[in-house]
Amino acid sequence: MKTTSASLHPGIPLVIFTLVAAFFAACQPKPESPKGFRLPDGDIEKGKTAFVQLQCHRCHEISGINFPMPPKGPRIEVPLGGKVYRVKTYGELVTSIINPTHVVSPDYQDALRDDKGKSIMPDHNDEMTVQQMIDLVSFLQSQYKLTHPDYNYTFHDM
Ligand code: HEC
Repeated sequence: MKTTSASLHPGIPLVIFTLVAAFFAACQPKPESPKGFRLPDGDIEKGKTAFVQLQCHRCHEISGINFPMPPKGPRIEVPLGGKVYRVKTYGELVTSIINPTHVVSPDYQDALRDDKGKSIMPDHNDEMTVQQMIDLVSFLQSQYKLTHPDYNYTFHDM
Protein backbone atom coordinates (compact mmCIF):
# COMPACT_ATOMS: atom_id res chain seq x y z
CA MET A 1 0.00 0.00 0.00
CA LYS A 2 1.26 3.47 -0.86
CA THR A 3 1.68 5.94 2.04
CA THR A 4 0.58 9.51 1.55
CA SER A 5 3.14 11.14 3.84
CA ALA A 6 6.23 12.49 2.14
CA SER A 7 9.15 10.20 2.83
CA LEU A 8 12.54 11.67 3.69
CA HIS A 9 15.56 11.13 1.58
CA PRO A 10 17.41 8.32 3.37
CA GLY A 11 20.49 10.52 3.82
CA ILE A 12 18.70 13.27 5.72
CA PRO A 13 18.32 11.54 9.13
CA LEU A 14 22.01 10.80 9.03
CA VAL A 15 22.82 14.46 8.36
CA ILE A 16 20.56 15.55 11.23
CA PHE A 17 22.10 12.99 13.56
CA THR A 18 25.61 14.15 12.65
CA LEU A 19 24.72 17.80 13.26
CA VAL A 20 23.14 17.04 16.64
CA ALA A 21 26.12 14.90 17.66
CA ALA A 22 28.51 17.68 16.61
CA PHE A 23 26.47 20.20 18.61
CA PHE A 24 26.66 18.11 21.78
CA ALA A 25 30.32 17.37 21.26
CA ALA A 26 30.96 21.12 21.08
CA CYS A 27 29.15 21.62 24.42
CA GLN A 28 31.28 19.04 26.22
CA PRO A 29 33.83 20.62 28.54
CA LYS A 30 37.44 20.11 27.53
CA PRO A 31 39.51 17.86 29.82
CA GLU A 32 41.25 20.94 31.20
CA SER A 33 37.99 22.78 31.93
CA PRO A 34 37.62 23.99 35.55
CA LYS A 35 34.04 22.70 35.51
CA GLY A 36 33.35 20.61 38.60
CA PHE A 37 36.33 21.98 40.52
CA ARG A 38 35.43 22.56 44.16
CA LEU A 39 37.69 23.19 47.11
CA PRO A 40 36.63 22.47 50.66
CA ASP A 41 36.51 25.50 52.96
CA GLY A 42 39.94 26.35 54.27
CA ASP A 43 41.08 27.92 57.52
CA ILE A 44 42.13 31.55 57.16
CA GLU A 45 44.43 31.56 60.21
CA LYS A 46 46.17 28.37 59.15
CA GLY A 47 46.55 29.84 55.68
CA LYS A 48 48.31 32.85 57.15
CA THR A 49 50.66 30.50 59.04
CA ALA A 50 51.34 28.51 55.87
CA PHE A 51 52.09 31.77 54.03
CA VAL A 52 54.98 32.40 56.42
CA GLN A 53 56.05 28.74 56.67
CA LEU A 54 56.37 28.48 52.90
CA GLN A 55 58.03 31.90 52.83
CA CYS A 56 55.54 33.45 50.46
CA HIS A 57 56.22 36.67 52.36
CA ARG A 58 59.72 36.66 50.89
CA CYS A 59 58.16 38.11 47.73
CA HIS A 60 54.65 39.18 48.69
CA GLU A 61 53.31 41.85 50.94
CA ILE A 62 49.72 42.18 52.07
CA SER A 63 48.49 45.55 53.18
CA GLY A 64 47.66 45.63 56.88
CA ILE A 65 49.68 42.53 57.83
CA ASN A 66 53.16 42.65 59.28
CA PHE A 67 54.91 39.44 58.52
CA PRO A 68 58.17 38.52 60.28
CA MET A 69 61.31 39.29 58.29
CA PRO A 70 62.00 36.38 55.97
CA PRO A 71 65.32 34.70 56.75
CA LYS A 72 67.42 35.17 53.65
CA GLY A 73 67.81 36.51 50.19
CA PRO A 74 66.85 39.69 48.42
CA ARG A 75 63.24 40.75 48.72
CA ILE A 76 60.84 41.59 45.98
CA GLU A 77 57.46 42.93 46.86
CA VAL A 78 54.52 41.84 44.82
CA PRO A 79 51.39 42.98 46.64
CA LEU A 80 48.59 40.49 47.16
CA GLY A 81 45.10 41.29 48.43
CA GLY A 82 43.59 44.73 48.44
CA LYS A 83 40.87 46.20 46.28
CA VAL A 84 39.68 44.30 43.25
CA TYR A 85 36.91 45.15 40.84
CA ARG A 86 36.16 41.55 40.09
CA VAL A 87 36.07 38.57 42.45
CA LYS A 88 39.34 36.66 42.64
CA THR A 89 38.15 33.13 42.14
CA TYR A 90 39.82 30.32 43.91
CA GLY A 91 40.50 28.76 40.54
CA GLU A 92 42.67 31.75 39.72
CA LEU A 93 44.40 31.66 43.08
CA VAL A 94 45.08 27.94 42.95
CA THR A 95 46.48 28.34 39.45
CA SER A 96 48.70 31.21 40.56
CA ILE A 97 50.00 29.11 43.45
CA ILE A 98 50.56 25.72 41.89
CA ASN A 99 51.16 26.73 38.27
CA PRO A 100 52.72 30.21 38.53
CA THR A 101 53.98 30.32 35.01
CA HIS A 102 50.51 29.76 33.60
CA VAL A 103 49.49 33.31 34.47
CA VAL A 104 52.27 35.80 34.44
CA SER A 105 50.41 39.00 34.97
CA PRO A 106 51.11 41.62 32.28
CA ASP A 107 52.02 44.06 35.06
CA TYR A 108 55.04 41.98 35.95
CA GLN A 109 55.94 40.44 32.65
CA ASP A 110 59.32 41.97 32.13
CA ALA A 111 60.71 42.39 35.59
CA LEU A 112 59.58 39.18 37.16
CA ARG A 113 60.20 36.55 34.55
CA ASP A 114 63.35 34.59 34.09
CA ASP A 115 65.19 34.41 30.78
CA LYS A 116 62.96 31.55 29.65
CA GLY A 117 59.85 33.66 30.19
CA LYS A 118 58.79 31.74 33.29
CA SER A 119 57.55 33.42 36.43
CA ILE A 120 60.25 33.79 39.04
CA MET A 121 57.72 32.58 41.56
CA PRO A 122 59.06 29.19 42.63
CA ASP A 123 57.15 25.96 42.40
CA HIS A 124 56.08 24.92 45.92
CA ASN A 125 54.30 21.78 44.86
CA ASP A 126 56.74 19.31 46.39
CA GLU A 127 56.76 20.90 49.83
CA MET A 128 53.25 22.33 50.14
CA THR A 129 50.51 20.04 51.41
CA VAL A 130 47.11 20.10 49.76
CA GLN A 131 45.65 21.31 53.07
CA GLN A 132 48.12 24.21 53.12
CA MET A 133 47.07 25.15 49.61
CA ILE A 134 43.38 25.08 50.57
CA ASP A 135 44.08 27.23 53.63
CA LEU A 136 46.28 29.62 51.64
CA VAL A 137 43.46 30.16 49.17
CA SER A 138 41.01 30.96 52.00
CA PHE A 139 43.52 33.30 53.58
CA LEU A 140 44.25 35.12 50.33
CA GLN A 141 40.58 35.38 49.40
CA SER A 142 39.90 37.01 52.76
CA GLN A 143 42.43 39.70 51.83
CA TYR A 144 40.70 40.83 48.63
CA LYS A 145 38.01 43.43 48.92
CA LEU A 146 35.54 43.68 46.10
CA THR A 147 34.82 47.29 45.29
CA HIS A 148 33.10 49.08 42.48
CA PRO A 149 35.20 51.21 40.20
CA ASP A 150 34.77 54.90 40.85
CA TYR A 151 32.94 56.22 37.82
CA ASN A 152 32.59 59.73 39.22
CA TYR A 153 35.35 61.12 37.13
CA THR A 154 35.33 64.82 36.55
CA PHE A 155 36.44 65.75 33.11
CA HIS A 156 38.85 68.62 33.04
CA ASP A 157 38.90 71.08 30.20
CA MET A 158 41.56 70.13 27.72
C1 HEC B 1 60.61 34.30 44.71
C2 HEC B 1 59.44 35.12 44.80
C3 HEC B 1 58.08 34.53 45.09
C4 HEC B 1 57.71 33.65 46.10
C5 HEC B 1 58.58 32.99 47.16
C6 HEC B 1 56.28 33.48 45.97
N1 HEC B 1 55.81 34.24 44.92
FE1 HEC B 1 53.85 34.46 44.38
N2 HEC B 1 54.41 35.63 42.84
C7 HEC B 1 55.69 36.06 42.59
C8 HEC B 1 55.68 36.92 41.45
C9 HEC B 1 56.90 37.60 40.87
C10 HEC B 1 54.34 37.02 41.04
C11 HEC B 1 53.75 37.87 39.93
C12 HEC B 1 54.27 37.56 38.62
C13 HEC B 1 53.57 36.45 38.05
O1 HEC B 1 52.40 36.64 37.72
O2 HEC B 1 54.21 35.41 37.96
C14 HEC B 1 53.57 36.18 41.93
C15 HEC B 1 52.20 36.01 41.84
C16 HEC B 1 51.43 35.40 42.81
C17 HEC B 1 49.99 35.37 42.80
C18 HEC B 1 49.08 36.00 41.76
C19 HEC B 1 48.91 37.44 42.07
C20 HEC B 1 47.87 38.13 41.25
O3 HEC B 1 47.63 39.31 41.52
O4 HEC B 1 47.28 37.51 40.36
C21 HEC B 1 49.61 34.68 43.92
C22 HEC B 1 48.18 34.42 44.39
C23 HEC B 1 50.81 34.27 44.59
N3 HEC B 1 51.91 34.73 43.88
C24 HEC B 1 50.85 33.53 45.77
C25 HEC B 1 52.00 33.06 46.34
C26 HEC B 1 52.01 32.14 47.47
C27 HEC B 1 50.78 31.62 48.18
C28 HEC B 1 53.33 31.87 47.75
C29 HEC B 1 53.88 30.94 48.78
C30 HEC B 1 53.42 29.56 48.70
C31 HEC B 1 54.13 32.64 46.80
N4 HEC B 1 53.30 33.33 45.97
C32 HEC B 1 55.52 32.66 46.78
C33 HEC B 1 56.83 35.74 43.31
C34 HEC B 1 56.88 34.88 44.37
